[in-house]
Amino acid sequence: MVQLFFFKIGTLKTVCLNDYDVIKEAYVKRSDMFGNRPTNLRIVNQLINQKGIIFAPLGPHWWEQRQFAVASLGFGSRDIEDRVLEEAATMQAELLKTKLKPFNIRRILQQASTNVVCYMVFGKKWDYTNQTFQNIMQSLDVVFRTSVFFLPGNVFPYVPGFLKRGDKAIASVEKVLQLVRDEVKEHKEAFNPDDIRDFIDSFLLEMQNQTNIENSTFTERQLEMTVFDLFNAGTETVSTTMWWACLLMILNPDVQNKVQEEIGLVLGRDGRPSMAHRSQLPYTAATVAEIQRYGAVSPIGLPHAVPRNTEFYGYVIPKDTMVFAGQWSVHHDPELFPEPDKFDPGRFLDDEGEFKNNEYFMPFSMGPRSCMGKPLAEVQLFLLFTSLLQHFKLELPEGATRPSSEGVMGITLAPQPFELVAIPRD
Ligand code: HEM
Repeated sequence: MVQLFFFKIGTLKTVCLNDYDVIKEAYVKRSDMFGNRPTNLRIVNQLINQKGIIFAPLGPHWWEQRQFAVASLGFGSRDIEDRVLEEAATMQAELLKTKLKPFNIRRILQQASTNVVCYMVFGKKWDYTNQTFQNIMQSLDVVFRTSVFFLPGNVFPYVPGFLKRGDKAIASVEKVLQLVRDEVKEHKEAFNPDDIRDFIDSFLLEMQNQTNIENSTFTERQLEMTVFDLFNAGTETVSTTMWWACLLMILNPDVQNKVQEEIGLVLGRDGRPSMAHRSQLPYTAATVAEIQRYGAVSPIGLPHAVPRNTEFYGYVIPKDTMVFAGQWSVHHDPELFPEPDKFDPGRFLDDEGEFKNNEYFMPFSMGPRSCMGKPLAEVQLFLLFTSLLQHFKLELPEGATRPSSEGVMGITLAPQPFELVAIPRD
């Protein structure tokens, strides 16, 4: 396999790292150089201006903001599990409404994962029929199905027309940003330092505490962009993984049966799943991992960049080159995962049937810039998947053609739209 390759589109120089050891060398061992983000994407600069977490330059400010977000979002708390299960219950109620008719489950999954983030950030969740909520979903759809890093305005920044053209994606980003601004405004008006309700309140409190600190990074603009990042990074990734989960379950009914048998033995039909059950549900945990390996929802990750000419494996990577890590290539490398196109949860089980990690499994990337939301993502995937299969059997509609397991590329890799039937198990 080609370990790394270079290409140039317009003004954008790009390197793809396509091999586990090469990615590790760059993102872990030489993270001081490769842990940077691009600063030459004109559209991204215009919209984000290096604020938030994802596009913040490597350094103490980025680290301070990232640590603050992890601490105040309370990943791993019991409260988060409760909230995910509440969303799982809403999802089940929506599935019951389909009354054994074929349907596309995508929107329901997206609503569930978005509401979890809304709760943590805004302190509220939306009714699935709410128009504002529906508008957010539509905007996120547009953003994620576009290769935003390669928009014409980024590739040809000096051609003025390109900054405006094609930009349903930009308009969609603006819509999500407007919603965030409205929420921040409402939170400021209702702010009570003795009643911190959610992430926005925690941030406003920190802004107040740091009023006298010169050059504090706790500014309103930073708040808006961090919330925006949490939306972008934390909703689509989870719901697209769950979408792969549904596809892979209807394509592999034997695996689905085994998962349901295991869940039945440990939780029965009504037992409430929790992360504490993960060790008792090794086949289920292995299936979730195999879904993440197979689907590789973030197939090339987010762009990194080198801020200076950098020697690497005998080549010189020029200053400002964007760097992507080929997660899909690693997850489908036959030397690391034999018969990579086979869906086989057994890869993540040891001889005793216990869950076994695989060092080449890298859905959240690696190094200091790796996914900040991994603990939350793991809770959501395990609990949403377990409770979905506890209550429903997913099937291909009668007479339907077997859907393809080839993904569609945007920022994430998503399944091609397909329909399924959700049969209640109670
Ligand atoms: C299945 C779910 C998820 C997957 C597969 C995933 C994957 C990733 C990947 C591949 C990156 C890029 C890392 C890099 O640049 O090397 C990333 C970054 C990030 N993720 Fe996730 N993610 C998921 C869920 C979440 C959630 C739930 C949140 C938060 C609510 C989140 C927040 C972030 C943030 C803030 C970053 C940027 C980190 C930084 O630049 O320091 N992610 N994620």
